[in-house]
Amino acid sequence: MIVGGGIAAYKALELIRLLRKADIAVRVILTRAGAEFVTPLSLSALSEDKVYQDLWSLTDEAEMGHIELSRSADLIVVAPATADLMAKAACGLADDLASTTLLATDTPVLMAPSMNVRMWTHPATQRNLAILLRDGVRVVGPDEGAMACGEFGPGRLAEPEVILAAVLAALKQDAKPLQGRRALVTAGPTIEPLDPVRVLTNRSSGRQGYAIAAALAKLGADVTLISGPTALAAPVGVMRVDVETARGMLEACESALPVDVAVLTAAVADWRPETVSTQKTKKSSAAPEPIRLVENPDILATLAAPVSSRPALVIGFAAETEQVEAYAKAKLARKGCDWIVANDVTAPGVMGGEENEVMVIDCAGVERWTRATKADVAMRLAQRIAQTLNAHT
Ligand SMILES: Cc1cc2nc3c(=O)[nH]c(=O)nc-3n(C[C@H](O)[C@H](O)[C@H](O)COP(=O)(O)O)c2cc1C
Repeated sequence: MIVGGGIAAYKALELIRLLRKADIAVRVILTRAGAEFVTPLSLSALSEDKVYQDLWSLTDEAEMGHIELSRSADLIVVAPATADLMAKAACGLADDLASTTLLATDTPVLMAPSMNVRMWTHPATQRNLAILLRDGVRVVGPDEGAMACGEFGPGRLAEPEVILAAVLAALKQDAKPLQGRRALVTAGPTIEPLDPVRVLTNRSSGRQGYAIAAALAKLGADVTLISGPTALAAPVGVMRVDVETARGMLEACESALPVDVAVLTAAVADWRPETVSTQKTKKSSAAPEPIRLVENPDILATLAAPVSSRPALVIGFAAETEQVEAYAKAKLARKGCDWIVANDVTAPGVMGGEENEVMVIDCAGVERWTRATKADVAMRLAQRIAQTLNAHT
């Protein structure tokens, strides 16, 4: 919780008391101006934790860096949200601990504005409010009434009980935004037999797909993971269906329909041997027969086809070794899917590794995500999926 420098900062104490009573852990960041209104001692006593005040504190950075502080919460509540804090957050300024925390996180934010009526109705504040709402910030209040400054109008901090209700609603909604949604994820390689012991396959580890299945399940989705052979354990709460070939994977996908979202990360073999020998092919002195290949079904294009069973969101993956963006854009157009998540698999540590660096391409353009663990990429993608599905229904 961020406590800004407003006259209503004293009400933050009551809000913290209510949050603790509701069994919600609270960690407080107090702005410099906030400390003119309430003491760190009161906030610390009520939150039962230390209060963070300084971006440049060696002790605080050593204990919990500002980046970690910004991400350790399920929700960031700003109460009171001053005109100044709103302006900084709307502009992306980061010149103290509170504003840096707000910029360094993708944790949901709930602001409870409180200010003089003229500050609230000023076009600058209203402009900032519109930007914050567009950025996904939730806002509770302000109320209308008599103000500490003697004026009357909108600008009073919402009552602590009302802010508590907004916090509970936000936590509930954010915890499981995919509750009641069905998701299908494919992962890993496929293997195409040449004979009973030999196969054609690829180096996909399945890690990114498994992480996406786990993230979707964590957000409440009912997930079916259709997996080629991997060394990975099924994520908790996910139903895994094991397949080997591309044709087997397509069949399993079609059986899993209907779903709201299909995320197709599997590295599906484009071709399979035309004939599969029933016996192990023996080494002989004659030159080996060339392997003739035939095309496999295109799972992404099949699921993205405009039929009634089409998932609302079909997401393909493009693992490229060159011209990543151009190839991915062409794939988006060719397959008829909604998004392509593309990556350069020649980047060190990506293929089979723990990290990924992707771009997400949809009809609106290209989003480049910074390199992160596959679990973090998965959670960011799952949240983007939740936002998109929930925005449309
Ligand atoms: C007595 C007093 C009361 C104030 N009350 C408010 C207020 O209710 N809301 C507000 O937005 N700013 C208020 N301000 C102005 C802020 O304290 C000032 O803009 C400060 O820079 C905000 O810092 P912060 O956003 O980092 O907390 C008040 C200032 C004073 C001196």
